[in-house]
Amino acid sequence: TSTTGSQLDSHPDSHLNLHLNSTHISEDGLFTAELISPLIAASLPESYTIRALRKSDYARGFLDCLRVLTTVGDITEEQWSGRYEWMTTQGKGCYYLLVVDDGSRIVGTGALIVERKFIHNLGLVGHIEDIAVAQDQQGKKLGLKIIQALDFVAAKVGCYKSILDCSEANEGFYIKCGFRRAGLEMAHYY
Ligand code: ACO
Repeated sequence: TSTTGSQLDSHPDSHLNLHLNSTHISEDGLFTAELISPLIAASLPESYTIRALRKSDYARGFLDCLRVLTTVGDITEEQWSGRYEWMTTQGKGCYYLLVVDDGSRIVGTGALIVERKFIHNLGLVGHIEDIAVAQDQQGKKLGLKIIQALDFVAAKVGCYKSILDCSEANEGFYIKCGFRRAGLEMAHYY
């Protein structure tokens, strides 16, 4: 459907979704399921699923999954909801994907943030961000599949390229995913 997460969450019965198991809920995610690669979905271990982030994923440990990557902070459910709402309204162009295991635990995640440019004929550039696979699930090709699924989203929404920053220690992983070194990251912290 084209219903967005924010439309669904304003429905009077939407709070019920938070109490149902993920296999039963009809809650929409941050973006349409048409952007989920059917090939990648079919290639996951049996009973694992790949889908868009949902507002109710706060309660399913989404932030814990990100903790293998970096510090996340103590984010309250209210703060989470505020950021999620922003992504479905002003911040459109954030595609957070999740891999969920058979017990509805979030075991991997990754994001594509689409930048809308003036150059290259109003070109779109995908930024691959926040890739994380739970420690006990690493080495099962879930990271590779998350990247391939984000590549699928990027191509479908019209990006002409996707780029990312990573540590030297992860370069080999991204080379296996088809990326190559291009340029140099610089940072200015505030
Ligand atoms: N260096 C070299 N090769 C690697 C590395 C690495 N660090 N990690 C995985 N690979 C290889 C695997 O051996 C495999 O190779 P093969 O096809 O020859 O067998 C291939 O890459 C695919 O590996 P996956 O099993 O898909 O990797 P995994 O699911 O473990 O995910 C990831 C890799 C995402 C780096 C995971 O280890 C992780 O979450 N690490 C902690 C968080 C992190 O560093 N995230 C990346 C930050 S950068 C960013 O977000 C843009």
